[in-house]
Amino acid sequence: MPELHLKAPAKINLGLEVLRRRTDGYHDISTVFVAVALFDDIVLATRDDDRIVCRVEGNPDLEAGEDNLCVRAARALRSVAMHELPGLDIALTKRIPMGAGLGGGSSDAAAVLLGAARLWGLQPGSLPLTDLAAGLGSDVPFFLHGGIALAGGRGELLHPVELALPWTVLLVNPGIHIPTPWAYKAIGRTGERGASDLVAHLRRGTSEPGSLMSSVVNDFEDGVFSEYPLLQELKERLYDAGAEFALMSGSGSTMFGLFQSHEAAVQAARRFQPYWTATAGFLPSAGSMTL
Ligand code: C5P
Repeated sequence: MPELHLKAPAKINLGLEVLRRRTDGYHDISTVFVAVALFDDIVLATRDDDRIVCRVEGNPDLEAGEDNLCVRAARALRSVAMHELPGLDIALTKRIPMGAGLGGGSSDAAAVLLGAARLWGLQPGSLPLTDLAAGLGSDVPFFLHGGIALAGGRGELLHPVELALPWTVLLVNPGIHIPTPWAYKAIGRTGERGASDLVAHLRRGTSEPGSLMSSVVNDFEDGVFSEYPLLQELKERLYDAGAEFALMSGSGSTMFGLFQSHEAAVQAARRFQPYWTATAGFLPSAGSMTL
């Protein structure tokens, strides 16, 4: 059986502004997504039958449920194909913490869309990949391209951005699970908030990192920090450890710091035991998904 090995990267949000509540239950946001070099591994293989089966490393005997985002991605893709297609085995090795604001599940789903299309011999140009991705989750379309993108709408409207980001990222996650819908509710946005020029702030920040602290914010932080003060403490500790800038990613709970060098980030990571940490470079070019 032919196999395909995929690497699905994590993302962080360099700024996240929640602009307004929409009538469809979502919120319009403005954010800059950046793919970072921390990956889930996925192996796809076609099956003799028509089943779609996802197994997660560490639990090879246990099939993931039908609600698993990788399974849903494969099913959604097969449903738009013009002819019958065989089943798919999806073997997933998780390295990106789940429900942590790093987009791991969304990235896995995008990787399955792209990889399964290739394995099944479908022409990507003939497929509504962006619509399928947006139907799976607001962050999924970003991972079809990766790189750096300014996102609007509910996160699915993407504009690629060229930015030189001269930092190594240190990610710290204390294992707190924050449901995204709760985090949006905690903001309690009733009126409208204007979007700032995030890309301009980030451009300035590459030469004047001190400017980022006042110009680049994550609107989720206040509500999430009131419920989980540890996260605010971790942010302060990232600055104490030498970060030029620190922020929460997505709706949390991962906090990240931007460090001048890989060595500085690795050294700082030691201060965050026993929590999960990872150091990672940015993946600035689009198409960071490795097929
Ligand atoms: O799109 P996704 O499935 O990731 O969204 C999960 C939930 O998060 C939505 O049902 C909604 O409650 C909230 N959400 C939101 N605005 C967004 C993205 C998500 O309110 N832009």
